Amino acid sequence: MTQILGFGGYVPERVMTNDDWAEIVDTSDEWITARTGIKERRFAAEDEATLDLAANAAEVAIKDAGLVAGDIGEIIVATDTPEVYTPDTASFLQHRLGCDNIPSYDLGGSGCAGFVQALDVARARIAFSPRNVLVVGVELISRLISWQERETCVLFGDGAGAVVVGPGESSPQLLDVVAGTDGSKTDILTLSTGGTRDPFTVETAASGAHQHLTMNGREVFKQAVGRMSEAVAEVLEHVGGTIEDVKLVIPHQANKRIIDAVGKKLGLREGQAFVNVDKFGNTGSASVPLALWQARDQGRIVEGDLVVLTAFGAGFHWAAAAIRF
Ligand code: UT7
Repeated sequence: MTQILGFGGYVPERVMTNDDWAEIVDTSDEWITARTGIKERRFAAEDEATLDLAANAAEVAIKDAGLVAGDIGEIIVATDTPEVYTPDTASFLQHRLGCDNIPSYDLGGSGCAGFVQALDVARARIAFSPRNVLVVGVELISRLISWQERETCVLFGDGAGAVVVGPGESSPQLLDVVAGTDGSKTDILTLSTGGTRDPFTVETAASGAHQHLTMNGREVFKQAVGRMSEAVAEVLEHVGGTIEDVKLVIPHQANKRIIDAVGKKLGLREGQAFVNVDKFGNTGSASVPLALWQARDQGRIVEGDLVVLTAFGAGFHWAAAAIRF
């Protein structure tokens, strides 16, 4: 049995509005709002890096759990925008939080599905060896993608979310997690320069290829709607629930139109899907835990509620989790 002990989140102070973007690239508030539902997003300050965002969210979650750093037995950080290339962000986070010598590692490269995948890993670890696991989703995308490419730059925001999960019978219970990957679709969302296939060079830096996120927006949209809807249905089947039983679906916050299309496919009631993409944009692997933390704090979830998380990400990955509060 896996219990969620605490929730946390953090967003940087700096607000970047659609009008701010319109001063940098050829875009408009009307276009961004109509196509994505995003009105503004948060960007990290110059002196902030991924670790700072992760640590802030983690501290909130540990405090919310009524625990201290010494009570944490393992750390998993889901991110595609790490503090440095090597070692992983989790190593820095372990030291910053003061968690002594516990296993800590990143789950990197799965885009926005990373946090829900990490929850799945955490529950397996807990079943094998009972311990409290800190699971963080963090992204500082604004620093690693091009600010010249209007097709992608306006979509993203920076932030972090976290939970502490551990063994226990009380609520909220993490009832089940489902996940899947279709590796034939690696090309629909990729930042491919900088790895061993296409190493970083002076020429790369000059051309900006290392910041070029290649995205087939329409295909990602289609896959996102299909896979997130199927994952929700699958996890509900596993836990013996129906969509009518669900108080709140918390989908990855990529685009309001994607959330609406998932809602239509699943037959969701008005307000049954949580939305904060208007305020934060797409915060990658931070989006689901950030939304979960906010939904709980806003009183959208109370004792007894069934909540379903779902996400998709570059890979192409998808996942869903069912939680009984
Ligand atoms: O975590 C995963 C991240 N990715 C996603 O979630 C992406 C999923 N896909 C989407 O959200 C949508 O496909 C987009 C929002 C990216 C685009 O919406 P769309 O309705 O699929 O637009 P489109 O690709 O059909 O592009 C329409 C037009 C194009 O111009 P032309 O060729 O019709 O003249 C683009 O050049 O919109 C243009 N465009 C823009 N115009 C103003 C693209 N980006 C912008 C922009 N501002 N920022």
